[in-house]
Amino acid sequence: MIVVAAGSGTRLGASAPKAFVGIDDRTVLRHALDGVFAAPYAQVVVVAPAGLEGDARTEAVAAAGDRGDVVSVVTGGTTRQASVGAGLAAVWADVEVVLVHDAARALTPPEVFDRVIRAVDAGSAAAVPVLPVVDTLKRVDGAIVVGAVDRAELAAAQTPQGFRRDVLETAYRVADIDHTDDAALVAAAGHAVTTVAGSERAFKITTPADLERARALVADAPAAARVAAASAPPLRVGVGTDVHAFGGEGPLWLAGLEWPGERALAGHSDGDAVAHAIVDALLSAAGLGDIGTHFGTDRPEFAGAHAEVFLRRTRQLLGEAGFVVGNVAVQLQANRPRFASRRAEAEAVLSAALGGAPVTVSATTTDGLGFTGRGEGVAVTAVAIVLAR
Ligand code: CTP
Ligand code: MG
Repeated sequence: MIVVAAGSGTRLGASAPKAFVGIDDRTVLRHALDGVFAAPYAQVVVVAPAGLEGDARTEAVAAAGDRGDVVSVVTGGTTRQASVGAGLAAVWADVEVVLVHDAARALTPPEVFDRVIRAVDAGSAAAVPVLPVVDTLKRVDGAIVVGAVDRAELAAAQTPQGFRRDVLETAYRVADIDHTDDAALVAAAGHAVTTVAGSERAFKITTPADLERARALVADAPAAARVAAASAPPLRVGVGTDVHAFGGEGPLWLAGLEWPGERALAGHSDGDAVAHAIVDALLSAAGLGDIGTHFGTDRPEFAGAHAEVFLRRTRQLLGEAGFVVGNVAVQLQANRPRFASRRAEAEAVLSAALGGAPVTVSATTTDGLGFTGRGEGVAVTAVAIVLAR
């Protein structure tokens, strides 16, 4: 994701560059970045005016919350195109899809980002959000109308615009004139550009009247709801349970740890009911079926596999479906093993296998009742939250 914020804002005529003008207690840039950080991008490159790189970084890090490590800041150029070019040069090698967004479109809602990403993921080399043109249009020569223009053939382009990285880079390399947006530049290089629905709220703050409009929109929303909307991405919750009987071969594996001297659990894999409940909770949250859908007993590669294998694969399945793991909470019901002394170790192993998402594990006995109370096996319940990109 590249956010261009290096313009001077001549038409706005404020005392600061446009991106650093306040809408309310937050600047244009901060509002734009709050919208960007509603979804988890691998990298966010902010293109700042020369001399304001530090201020841009401060804004970006504040908007990023605990994801400050994905922020890069570079200095812009004298045109928007040069600024995007500078941003593009800073995109990390492993990034395959690049979105380019105008900071000036500070109130762009998350669904516009989603639609653009989906179009590129679905195979478009380039995708641009557009709005239908509502005004009746005239071709003019000075003060004289010289013709009509059929507005049905026209659309107004917004940002973020999304591109396959290779397409955007090649188009930038061969561009020989200045274009007003990246879609035009990519189209000039011979690529088809797909449109998706834009939003009235994605208007570009250009003139003082636009700034007033942004201020009115922001003031309409109660502050708490606004912050929540900007910082809370779509969440989905999932639940999973698993039960395994004691009586397997070899050592006990539970919660991603080997437990020497404890009775093993029976199962096709290592019988790690904690791992299996987590997998079910995550798959359920993402609407991806259950453990049997992806790790069936007919799959020899999972025979004897430990928690790490299941959780890494599950995280990958979620990623392919556009989800990241929020957090997972697990409760184990068992007489043995005595869990408390290795809780932190188990949580660290499980969390690492899920790419660092917090995993918390509690354990309880059942007062001698039921199969867990009789020591016949263990029962596990897991709840997971996933975040849609
Ligand atoms: N932009 C940029 N570098 C430039 C020019 C523009 O990064 N040399 C960015 C702006 O910061 C803005 C977006 O491109 O987020 C769209 O540009 P525009 O609305 O034209 O902003 P300004 O160029 O700042 O405004 P003006 O044209 O009125 O001076
Ligand atoms: Mg400009």
